[in-house]
Amino acid sequence: MAIPVIDFSKLDGEERVKILAQIANGCEEWGFFQLINHGISEELLERVKNVASECYKVEREPNFKNSKPVKLLNELLENKSSNDDQKVENVDWEDVFLLTDENDNDWPSKTHGFKEVMKEYRAELKKLAIKVMDVMDENLGLPKGYINKAFNGGEDKNAAFFGTKVSHYPPCPHPEKVNGLRAHTDAGGVILLFQDDEVNGLQILKDGVWIDVQPLKNSIVINVGDQIEVLSNGKYKSVWHRVLAMPDGNRRSIASFYNPSLKATIEPAQELLVNGNIGKEVEGDSATKYPKILFGDYMSVYAEQKFQPKEPRFQAAVKAM
Ligand code: OGA
Ligand code: NI
Repeated sequence: MAIPVIDFSKLDGEERVKILAQIANGCEEWGFFQLINHGISEELLERVKNVASECYKVEREPNFKNSKPVKLLNELLENKSSNDDQKVENVDWEDVFLLTDENDNDWPSKTHGFKEVMKEYRAELKKLAIKVMDVMDENLGLPKGYINKAFNGGEDKNAAFFGTKVSHYPPCPHPEKVNGLRAHTDAGGVILLFQDDEVNGLQILKDGVWIDVQPLKNSIVINVGDQIEVLSNGKYKSVWHRVLAMPDGNRRSIASFYNPSLKATIEPAQELLVNGNIGKEVEGDSATKYPKILFGDYMSVYAEQKFQPKEPRFQAAVKAM
């Protein structure tokens, strides 16, 4: 079983209806799908891969050797009283840093071209995120721009958050003893992942089974975050996913996320609820399934509960309001 692969270039052609249906299916049944022919040039993607790998080698790898997961794994291996099935808990075998418009003074600076290339890449990915949200609006029967407007706190300005997480999952001598990235769902809106061409490790939970997100050269993997699940009143699924540590290969993964502003209030779109039933008991798909939450409050809860079940987070965030 493989997650859906969708040719985004066909959205504007004769097969538009089919492509819209494929994306709807990806959001409803999978929570994950891969876009090919997404409009980001291969030439830019090659440059992104080059600067990210170079940056890892020059600026990150020396520190990874002294990082917490490496130390904890070594301690576990040295501890004679530990048993064979003991794992290193509460850490990820991952090197990661975050790029935002606000922190660009702190971006890696020793890698030639890193900043220029990643700025260009982020601008392209942000445009793609907005296109994907527009398709979700259309598929859900919402006015064009609805999701983006909600993420901007109801105003058409630049309040929504766009971040890029640059990750590497280095080869691990004992992949059975540590997670690459522990299982979780993503807190925010739309996530656009540019994963490694070859090294796998990313898996999603589908119908109780972990399945691989198959590497596909220069595709962009899209997944639904918790806030899209809320806005769609549960029609779209923010699904569990994880990264396995791997014995061979250094897996590169660049995740960009288009999230609500911390000041935005997110709730199920009124258009998806049964009109005229306000105040009455409604059951089924059009009953409100999620509370109204300030995204900043949700993020405070998420910071503590990222690796725990998502449902209680919504209620906990309400209490924080
Ligand atoms: C994440 C995530 C997957 C990956 O950052 O939330 O799920 O492949 N990343 O790095
Ligand atoms: Ni994630």
